[in-house]
Amino acid sequence: MTCRRYGVVALAAALVALSGCGSEEQSPLHPESHPARLVERLWWWMLGGAGIIFAGSVAFLVVAYLRRNRSGLPFFGEREGLATTLVVAFGIVIPVATLAVLFTISNIYVIAKTDAPSAGSTQMRIEVVGHQWWWEVRYPGSDAVTANELHIPTGTSIDLVVHTADVIHSFWVPRLNRKIDTIPGQDNHILLYAGKPGRYRGQCAEYCGLQHAHMAMYVFAQPPAQFRAWLAKEAAPAPAPQSELGRRGEDVFLSNACAGCHTIRGTSAQGKIGPDLTHVAERTTLAALTVPNRPADLVRWIRDPQHFKPGTKMPGLELSDADFDALAQYLQELGFGQ
Ligand code: CUA
Repeated sequence: MTCRRYGVVALAAALVALSGCGSEEQSPLHPESHPARLVERLWWWMLGGAGIIFAGSVAFLVVAYLRRNRSGLPFFGEREGLATTLVVAFGIVIPVATLAVLFTISNIYVIAKTDAPSAGSTQMRIEVVGHQWWWEVRYPGSDAVTANELHIPTGTSIDLVVHTADVIHSFWVPRLNRKIDTIPGQDNHILLYAGKPGRYRGQCAEYCGLQHAHMAMYVFAQPPAQFRAWLAKEAAPAPAPQSELGRRGEDVFLSNACAGCHTIRGTSAQGKIGPDLTHVAERTTLAALTVPNRPADLVRWIRDPQHFKPGTKMPGLELSDADFDALAQYLQELGFGQ
């Protein structure tokens, strides 16, 4: 390939990357809330400003190269004072001014506007706990507990409180707001807001171990009435298994290691290490978006979790094929019931 063709390919790749094609679901360049729009605008301004500074620096380098065997500046010749002024302007004054403006806009204006709503104005609070490698979601004032798939009402400023059960993670749903770290021993707050209904993908944004990349989440924004209906169903205890196979699966679950790690509200399973599975059948994915929640994938996941997510705390149990099938049937019956 010729040099020029390389250039064309690189430019095309850069444009595709900039337009965010293919990853719109999780792109900060497709904001869906006012805080995310502020972050997007700041990003474009920074890109524009940095582009101008970069182009200016390259221009000076080119001039220096072309005149490498001559002294003085183009057009101005050997004016010592002017050369010093240029160095002071471009080396000190302009960078300091640029950084001061950037600091003011990003740290004082954008951070404040994207922060958690103040205590008095809070309409709702949701708690998220980062675990290696999944997200626990709690709704204070309700028994509802879920994992990796947050439901929120649209048009509502939510005070999202994040903490961690182990190491530092970072909660980031780029279309809704900036990221916020989960720090051991500390509660961090951020505003979570979605203007319109939809599904917004998020991702842990702080390296947290082997399966950091498989620590994703969805935010489902629903109209408030629909959200309230969801919350009421999510808060209810698990429905009793309907089928014979499902009932056998429940026995398998409760008499094996499953119950030591997972909670199924309404049963004796009260484990706290893995996700709450009370209504797991209502979720669209398993293992923090690693596996689709479909019957065949569910069986493969519970048979050999280490194949899909090496390092996950969930072990592959030594059960018979019949027990795995019963277990999968039971989990599929953990919906919202009738
Ligand atoms: Cu959790 Cu990266």
